[in-house]
Amino acid sequence: MTEQARESNRQWRLKSRPVGMVKESDFEQVSETVPDVGEGQFLVRNLFFAFEPAMRGWLNDVKSYVPPVGLGEVMRATCVGQVVESRHPDFREGELVSGVFGWQDYTLSDGQDAILRRPVVKVPAGVPPERTLGALGSTGLTAYFGMLDIGEVKAGDAVLVSGAAGATGSVAGQIARIKGASKVVGIAGGPQKCAWLVDELGFDAAIDYRKENVNARLKELFPKGIDLFFDNVGGNILDDALLNMAQFARVVICGGIAAYNEMELPPGPRNYMQIVIRRLTVRGFILIDHMQEADRARQQLAAWLASGELRGREDIQEGFENAPRTFLRLFRGENIGKQLLKVAEPPLPVVS
Ligand SMILES: NC(=O)c1ccc[n+]([C@@H]2O[C@H](COP(=O)([O-])OP(=O)(O)OC[C@H]3O[C@@H](n4cnc5c(N)ncnc54)[C@H](OP(=O)(O)O)[C@@H]3O)[C@@H](O)[C@H]2O)c1
Repeated sequence: MTEQARESNRQWRLKSRPVGMVKESDFEQVSETVPDVGEGQFLVRNLFFAFEPAMRGWLNDVKSYVPPVGLGEVMRATCVGQVVESRHPDFREGELVSGVFGWQDYTLSDGQDAILRRPVVKVPAGVPPERTLGALGSTGLTAYFGMLDIGEVKAGDAVLVSGAAGATGSVAGQIARIKGASKVVGIAGGPQKCAWLVDELGFDAAIDYRKENVNARLKELFPKGIDLFFDNVGGNILDDALLNMAQFARVVICGGIAAYNEMELPPGPRNYMQIVIRRLTVRGFILIDHMQEADRARQQLAAWLASGELRGREDIQEGFENAPRTFLRLFRGENIGKQLLKVAEPPLPVVS
């Protein structure tokens, strides 16, 4: 690497903790020298950043399943990058790798991510790097474990998915269809997303929660009740679903994005007693508890993608300077499928 390039590692750092809705001004761009590569380390040139609603939670100074991002720290994010210098026996220059590298041009790694100490993963030969962040990445895995291991979807189930046109929801609904659900309905914001679910992903119906009465549509679409609800949203959508569950049905709580930017958490769910009346099983989960099974899940997801049974979609924005703006797209409902930002082309020929 030239001396000039060494001097410039652009980074987006957390400047202030967001109050309510996260703002672009909560982050600041700085530049520092690219770090030297020590023995047992390698340097990654980041190519794609992945965006997840959970990143909003990491900005709050509260105890969670991972520590918060500190003020002044590089914003934490999963990325795909290329190894451009290596003094590590297992990583070669030119290889594409995925890990929690953060919003910066270059990341120094010892082969494990700095927070959870999970191994940096190599992008398999022939797989587009963006796909390893989407249907084969954390959101694809979340859909897989949530729908199969937690929801235990089975043939004949009538299934509802909220946040259905997002990265997790779109894969979760398709898995239910692949497993023989009698009906798969998605809830999403806007006609374009609803049309995509039905026309291209094979959902049986979609509800535009911004325009339609969700409770009335659920009653019409599930006359015998919902057997399995995969919830990414919480709030009013969870309340409406609780009123339409079948007896002994299952609710998988994957996320609750409706409240991620609220300054004060709203009371709820209002229809809590439906859990008792309908004898529901409600179960939350976090992907990190399932990572020992990730290879099995990735193989299955890759096989479904290869056969065409499963469709992945990435929503790719461009330009390092757009990182905070791209993050906000998740909360404005602007993304369809997995939200990514492309920040560079691979500087070296790709080897695998
Ligand atoms: N449990 C786990 O381990 C785990 C792992 C990954 C993700 N998750 C959760 O899964 C959910 C989806 O994550 P993702 O990465 O796949 O993101 P995503 O669904 O691709 O993007 C977020 C989507 O949420 C919807 N949304 C935003 N604000 C909303 C609001 N106030 N009310 C209703 N919908 C809103 C928007 O779609 P619309 O246009 O349809 O509103 C937006 O496109 C999140 O709740 C996330 O926290 C959980």
